[in-house]
Order: sequence, then C-alpha cells, then structure tokens
Amino acid sequence: MLEGKNIVIGVCGGIAAYKMADVVSGLVKMHADVHVVMTKNATNFITPETFKVLSKNKVYVDVFDEDTDDYTKVPHISLGSNADVILIAPATANVIGKMANGIADDMVTTVVLPATCPILVSPSMNVHMFENKIVQDNIEKLRSYGMSIIEPDSGHLACGYDGKGKLPQPDELIEHIVYAISKKKDMVGKKVLVDAGPTQESIDPIRYITNRSSGKMGYSLARVAAMRGAEVTLVSGPTNLKTPLGVDKIDVISAKDMYDAMIQNADNSDIIIMAAAVADYTPETVAENKIKKKDGNLNIPLNRTEDILKTLGEQKKKGQVIVGFSMETENLLANSRKKLESKNSDMICANSLTIEGAGYQVDTNIVTLITRTDEEELPLMSKDDVADAILTRALSISSLT
Ligand code: CTP
Repeated sequence: MLEGKNIVIGVCGGIAAYKMADVVSGLVKMHADVHVVMTKNATNFITPETFKVLSKNKVYVDVFDEDTDDYTKVPHISLGSNADVILIAPATANVIGKMANGIADDMVTTVVLPATCPILVSPSMNVHMFENKIVQDNIEKLRSYGMSIIEPDSGHLACGYDGKGKLPQPDELIEHIVYAISKKKDMVGKKVLVDAGPTQESIDPIRYITNRSSGKMGYSLARVAAMRGAEVTLVSGPTNLKTPLGVDKIDVISAKDMYDAMIQNADNSDIIIMAAAVADYTPETVAENKIKKKDGNLNIPLNRTEDILKTLGEQKKKGQVIVGFSMETENLLANSRKKLESKNSDMICANSLTIEGAGYQVDTNIVTLITRTDEEELPLMSKDDVADAILTRALSISSLT
C-alpha cells in the first residue's frame, strides 16, 4: 500500500520513542521508504542505530552531520521537501512549542519547515503538561497551519499519572499515515453506508444464534471509502475490529437493530453496501430466564427476519447505488445473479466459501463483481484491495445513474 512512498518520521525525546521502532518496521514492511530524524534528547530513549537498521537509511540527529558531497541536496532541506508525509511522534511540548513558533534549531524542527506534504503531529507527554494552556494554544496554532494533530490516548502514563498523553499504538499511527497519503480522494462529497459483521439473535439471556462472519470485508470497505474521501457510516454487528479512521460507527446486535439502523441512514446515502451476514431467522420469542435443560430434545421456533437489502432495493432513491454480497457454497454465479434481480441491487459481490483464501475470518477474498451488464472475476486480493475495486465499480455505476 505504501510502495514508492517517502515517509519522514521525526522522533522527539519522550519515553514513548521506543514505540516508534514498531512504526518504522511496520511502514518498511508496507514497502515505504522511511527516513528517521531524531532530536538529541530522543537518543536518550532509543538509539539512531535501531532506526538505521529498521529503515535501512541513514538517521539524522545533527543538522551539521549531513555527510553529503552534493550540497544541492542537503538532507535538512531535501528530506522534508521530498516527503509524501511527515509524522512527528512522540511530539513533546518542547518540539510542539518550537514548531508553533517557526523555531528550527534541530533536525526535527528543521525538516518540517520546507515541507509541503501533510504533516502529522502526535503529542505525547504528562497529562498536566498536555492540558497546559500554552501547549494547547501551540497545538491549535499547528492546526491552523494545516498540520493534523493525532489525539493522544488516555491511560496510565509512564510518569505515574493517569490521563490523556499516551502515544497511540504503532498500528494506529501507521493507519494515520496511510490515511494521509492514500492515493486518490475521488469519493469526496459521497455519502457511503456500509454494514458489516454478524448479527446475534437472542434465545435467552445466555444464548444466541450467530454466524462465522468476522466483519473484515465490511470494515475494509468502510476504511477504504473513508480514505478515498467519502463520508462513511458503518453499521456493525458484534466484532473485535477497531473502528477505521474517519468512519462513523453505529453498533448493533440483532438483525432487527441492523434493519432499523440501515433504514434510518439509507435515505441520504449515495452508495449503500451490505457486507453484513444478517441472520435470516430469529427466535420467535426470547426467554426471560435461562432455558433449563429437560429430558428430550428442544425445538426453538424461528421467524424470518426482514431482508434489509431487498427492502432498500425496493425503496431505492434516484441516483443511489446499492451493492450486496452473496455468500454461497454452490452455484455461486447463478444464485448471485438471482439475488441481483430479486433484491433490485446494482451489483452483487459474489464469494464462495469453498475457495481457499475467500470468505469469513481471513484477510483475503476472491470475489466476482456481478452487475446488470457484466461479470468481473477479481483475483485473490487483500480485503482492502477488494474493497477498493468494489468502490471503484460502485462509483462508475453511480456516474451512470
Ligand atoms: N441480507 C440482508 N438481510 C437479510 C439477509 C441478507 O440484507 N436478512 C443481505 C446480505 O447482507 C447480503 C445479501 O443480502 O448483502 C445476500 O445475503 P446471503 O446471505 O448471501 O443471501 P440470502 O439473501 O440470505 O439468501 P440465501 O440464504 O438463500 O443464500
């Protein structure tokens, strides 16, 4: 995802500097070209050697240690100028103060000045330092200069205090970077409604009926749509997944909850994508108390749930694009095409549970996009890439409607 991207990481002197090793390593694994600059104080917490080994690039601490024969490419200018994104993390109160006032007296504060790329600043410090009016004013100033501030996490801080000031986890920092430089912003102005995950249908206070959906495909769709600039609402059944950056999430439990949330949000959505594995049946009644074991078998009467996709297809607004999924174990294409017709959808993403690398729980998928006019079989891809392809196709249908 970050192939060919040039990323500059500015590490400052906070205890959380050690977390940046995982950030650099993660970015390199995603094929980014990562350049680390550090303040002198940061080297008390983690050595430049660590970042050098992980990034495979020289790490700069001293503006006068530029080690170059070509003075048209002095690193304190070229690093920032050539970057696709800069992340300053952990950003200390000191460095934030300097950046807010245009002071450039070390490598980190110097590289940001010539940069024209997105600059992300991730403050990390003691809670009272963070809440200090001067620090808050400086953060506001950075915002007003167009820098993006990554809110610190709350919790137990290394200084012994509890509160806001923790550096977010490496995967979250990486997500901010990916979000900032994602390739295209071609969905700005589009409202996208996605549902994801399984539903749980209660039998009694202890038991429920559910399915094997992990929610990964729907979350990928929401994440990629947000990265492409869409305004995204994600209606999610119970999953263990983190809400993607920039996505508005509504948590639901049952098929009925999901129906209500989808219907409520459908009217002003441009693209609706139903990736959830919605229960087709729900217990006729939910026992108030635990159902006790008795001799013989137990039969639980089940009622049909509403078909959300079908309802939305019947109520489809002009210009709206509706995309469904189809999970089959046999006759994949024929059954999926039937769903396209019967649910008045614009596209069905058909995936077979019987192919390795496709379906529930895994991070990859093999999908055939079935529209009214054609069928396109996508190869095995990550769910994020599948999401990207689905959104591109939905956008092109949307431009024709
Ligand atoms: N779907 C829905 N509401 C339901 C059941 C399914 O909106 N109560 C949606 C799913 O989110 C998916 C599409 O319908 O986008 C197809 O779901 P799938 O489970 O493949 O098929 P079903 O419609 O349930 O039909 P069948 O059980 O016959 O395969």
